[in-house]
Amino acid sequence: MRVVSGIQPTGGLHLGNLLGAILRWVRMQDEAECLFFLADLHALTIDVDPAKLRANVREMAAALIASGIDPAKSTLFAQSAVPAHPELAWILNCTARMGWLNRMTQFKEKSGKSREGASVGLFTYPVLQAADVLVYQATHVPVGEDQKQHIELARDIALKFNNDFDVELFIPPEPFIGGGTAARVMSLRDGSAKMSKSDPSEQSRIHLTDSDDEIAQKIRKAKTDPEPLPEDPDQLEQRPEAKNLVGIMAAMTGETPAAVLQRFTGQGFGMFKPALADATIALLEPLRKRLIELRQDEAALDAILAAGAEKASALAAPTLAEAYRAVGL
Ligand code: ADP
Ligand code: NA
Repeated sequence: MRVVSGIQPTGGLHLGNLLGAILRWVRMQDEAECLFFLADLHALTIDVDPAKLRANVREMAAALIASGIDPAKSTLFAQSAVPAHPELAWILNCTARMGWLNRMTQFKEKSGKSREGASVGLFTYPVLQAADVLVYQATHVPVGEDQKQHIELARDIALKFNNDFDVELFIPPEPFIGGGTAARVMSLRDGSAKMSKSDPSEQSRIHLTDSDDEIAQKIRKAKTDPEPLPEDPDQLEQRPEAKNLVGIMAAMTGETPAAVLQRFTGQGFGMFKPALADATIALLEPLRKRLIELRQDEAALDAILAAGAEKASALAAPTLAEAYRAVGL
């Protein structure tokens, strides 16, 4: 079992990343060989702030380590430090079909109305994602619900490449969604949008770096409805904001949504929100303290990333060489 997954260093780690992906990565470290990367090449697909990007890579590396990613157990590196990713991506760009990429919903969401003005990189970035996992022969790719379509694309690309060149080179990766109620954590401002680093509203998400007061304030201001909480989780289906907050609580305490509702049946959000804030602070406070310590030593972070890149490059080399050979180069 080889696990590969990445996160964009485009801003601070948020609760959706943590519950939907990172805490699962942490648990998988003891069960599988794990490679985790900072997707800094993906970060180029939207507005780039060169002055911030390198700092963001370190910041995200520190946030992952603070959250429990152990560089002694897992290979942690920056995508741009392993040229095999973009090299294989080019080859796979020639395997992927325009029609497949046209169907990617994230491109539609991220390009918005300015499709013609979106970068070509934003359009083909699912192909780079396919290369990210195929180059390591990943068997499992733990991601949030938002990435499911991209993993399916990686499977299609792997199968077409193997078929076109009559090789058994690429392993079609398994999407490994899981994450329970946190597979898709929604924005605190809008229950129909996912919590994301790219949301312009700071109020929409809780960052690992938020102070206890900021956490409590964001939860207090989170959009909800005036109804009391029901006993039956099915009754939350038409109440996306309520469903989201109950799901977040369940993901943090390890309860089912039904068990959370048991504790709050008949109560309004005036009761629920302070409890949610307490649970969130209990989860994030120790991670934030560790993050602040880790950030002090940039050289140590750089050394961890350099060692990770060296290990990752060695693992990627044979597959990249095979891919070149298969296409006749
Ligand atoms: P973002 O959309 O915030 O930029 P990334 O694209 O870097 O996040 O995703 C990093 C990981 O976090 C991926 O595995 C992704 O599926 C997961 N993830 C991102 N947002 C959420 C969310 N709102 N709920 C659950 N998982 C999420
Ligand atoms: Na994303």
